[in-house]
This record gives sequence, C-alpha cells and structure tokens, in this order.
Amino acid sequence: MSTTTMLTPMESAEIQEAYAAYELDVYGKRGLEVVRGEGVWLYDNEGQRYLDCIAGIGVCNLGHGHPEVLAALQQQAAKLINCPGFFHNDAKAAFLKKLVAVAPTGLNRAFLCNSGTESIEGALKFARISTGRKTVITAKRGFHGRTYGAMSATPNRKLSEGCGALVPDFAHVRFNDIDALRALVNDETAAILLEVIQGEGGVYPADLEYIRAVRQLCDEQGALLIVDEVQTGFCRTGRFFACEHYDLRPDIMTLAKAIASGLPMGAILVADHVQVPMGRHGSTFGGNPLVCAVATRVIEVLERDNLAAHAEAMGAYFRAGLEARPHAQVRHIRQRGLMIGVELKIKAKPVLKRLMELGVLVMTSGSTILRFLPALTIQPAEIDVAVAAFHQVLDEEDAS
Ligand SMILES: Cc1ncc(COP(=O)(O)O)c(C=O)c1O
Repeated sequence: MSTTTMLTPMESAEIQEAYAAYELDVYGKRGLEVVRGEGVWLYDNEGQRYLDCIAGIGVCNLGHGHPEVLAALQQQAAKLINCPGFFHNDAKAAFLKKLVAVAPTGLNRAFLCNSGTESIEGALKFARISTGRKTVITAKRGFHGRTYGAMSATPNRKLSEGCGALVPDFAHVRFNDIDALRALVNDETAAILLEVIQGEGGVYPADLEYIRAVRQLCDEQGALLIVDEVQTGFCRTGRFFACEHYDLRPDIMTLAKAIASGLPMGAILVADHVQVPMGRHGSTFGGNPLVCAVATRVIEVLERDNLAAHAEAMGAYFRAGLEARPHAQVRHIRQRGLMIGVELKIKAKPVLKRLMELGVLVMTSGSTILRFLPALTIQPAEIDVAVAAFHQVLDEEDAS
C-alpha cells in the first residue's frame, strides 16, 4: 500500500484563520498569500504574478525554482540529508573547497552554520577566544541579527527592548568616522565588526579611505576585523563579496542569506591566525550534506553565468531608470550592484503598498527608505516593470 498521502490544499480563508489563530506573529502581514515562485516572479493564490524585488530578503539570488538548484537538492536529498560534524562527508568537503576558493585571500577555513545571526554568534566567540580579548566595536545603523550576541552587536535598541541584560563589552561608533573608531580601539579590543555596505540600515556603503584606515587600525592594535557579508555576499553588490570593492582582507567573514539559494545556511570564514580549540563550538544542522550540495551548485552557477558582472550591469540599469525622472519626494538613491536603497522625503510604507497593488514587491529600511533586492538573474525588461511602477507611484505622490 502506498504511504504517500496527498494534502488537500487549504482555502484562502482557512489559511488566514490558521495564521490568526496559531502564528506567534512578529512580522505583521501585507495581505498577500504567496504560493509559488518562478525566476523573478512570485504568484499569489489567484494566479496573479508579482515582480519580486525582495528575493527572500536578498536570499534567492538565482531566482525562484532554479532548475540546477532543484536538481542538486533532489539528488542530495535522495542520498544523505544529515551527517554529524565528526564524520567526513563528500558534499561538505566539496563545498568547503569551493567556498574557500572564491573567498577573499587568506580566509582559508570555514565553520558552517544555519543562519546569519548564528554566523555572527560564532564569529564573536572565535574573535574573543582567539585574541583573549573582550571588546567588540560595531557601527551605528549596522545590523547583525536577533540572537543575544548579534543583538548586542546591533546598536538599534528597539530590537532588544524587554530582553534584559545584553552581552557585555560591546561599543558602537558612527559609521564612516575613523576618528571615533580610533578613540575606542585599544589593546583590549578583540574585534571591529562591520558591514562594508550597511543593508538593513538603508544601503549605506563605507568610504574606501575609511575601510583602509580600519584595516590599518586593526593591524596596529592586534584587533581582528570581522566583515559581515550576510547580505552583501554571493554577487549581490556586483562583486562576489563586497570586500572586493575595497580590496579588503578581513580576518573573519560571516555569510548566510544567498549562500544556499533559500535553504537555511550560514558560514564563518577565518584566516589562519584565528584559532579555536576543539570542542568550543558546534552545530547539529550546520553544514549538512543537503545544504552543502545546493551551496556548491549555487557558487558554480554564480561563477559560470558571471552573475557578479550581471548584477553590476543590471544595478546600473536599474538606478538609471529610477533616476531618469526626478521626483520631489526622492531624497537620495544609493546603490551597489542589485542592492538599491531609495531614500524618500515621505513615509515608505504607503509607497510599498501602492507598488504591491501595481504588482511589484519591495522592502523598506527604517521609515523612509525603499529597498530593492531582486534576484541577480533579473533582465532589463523586468527592471523596466519595476521602474515604471516606481514612477507611477511617485507621480501620484508628487501630485497629492
Ligand atoms: C548584515 C546582516 N547580518 C546578519 C543578519 C541576520 O541574518 P539572519 O536573519 O539569517 O539571522 C542579517 C539579516 O538581515 C544581515 O542583513
């Protein structure tokens, strides 16, 4: 007798009731039921399609339903899904080799985990254990995650409201202000932790001179430089890693989001001088064969299809489209590759809602910034759809 049972699809009303009754909702909802994805498009329960300029919040860099990702997933799922870290495994070995090959020079080893915040937790531990120092300095407007260490590293205190004591020995300084940083770094500093292009904060790139001075300061003071590439990695900004815009060699780099095209995965890359004794870290699910097989395929496709260069070209095309017509309500546009922030003089939420009505899905950062993070496979004709909707909404705002 077959053991396969078909699930009866739920009706929309039933789905909404289930969410209302059973979800501990920490997100708030947009009133859209997403049921399927294909390339840069998402489809709702009525078959209506939406141009997805969110891509799982910078996760689905190869688009939805990429056939090679699916093949890797299916093949590995049939072979082996989980394997404890104390065994060798072929899929994990292949991924580690591939990851280190594309990483910035000097990042020769990796620990594999399951998410961005976990990669930050590990990086903080590794930096403190390796240097024997405690203090970690991070930048204002930065975002590193929602678990206790990552939340303590993130200056936004709204995130930690009601959470009790944070992890001690963190300090936060203004981004792109080297004097403020110099005043804080000393021989007790374990690490400086930075995004070189702040994502959640609203797409703010670091200045080249700032990053050079940060690297030098770390070297002078014996502190480690941790670069958080959770959002900027895997070709998002027009380079394989955003560090490459700065010719930067971090001591530790954190990764997640796009690493396995939507499967939960993270990684911490470390230089040889970052040493962690056996038994001081670990993960049940981290680096399992399933995510490793998919992540290896992701890197192969990103490289073969030259998606860093494509993201650079499409990002420039997108920006030119957004800037083609001026709007009274637009303050600034900031962009690196396909990481685009449009700072408005008005609240961004109503603009986001109207864009959704016109079939384009975007994100916000803070209250006034619209963020576009489409799949890197996006083509000019699809960007034209987003740009036309953007101008239509801003025309309406300008007229009101
Ligand atoms: C730069 C950065 N670091 C860390 C995180 C946390 O990642 P996760 O949500 O996978 O825990 C994020 C998430 O947006 C991020 O953008």
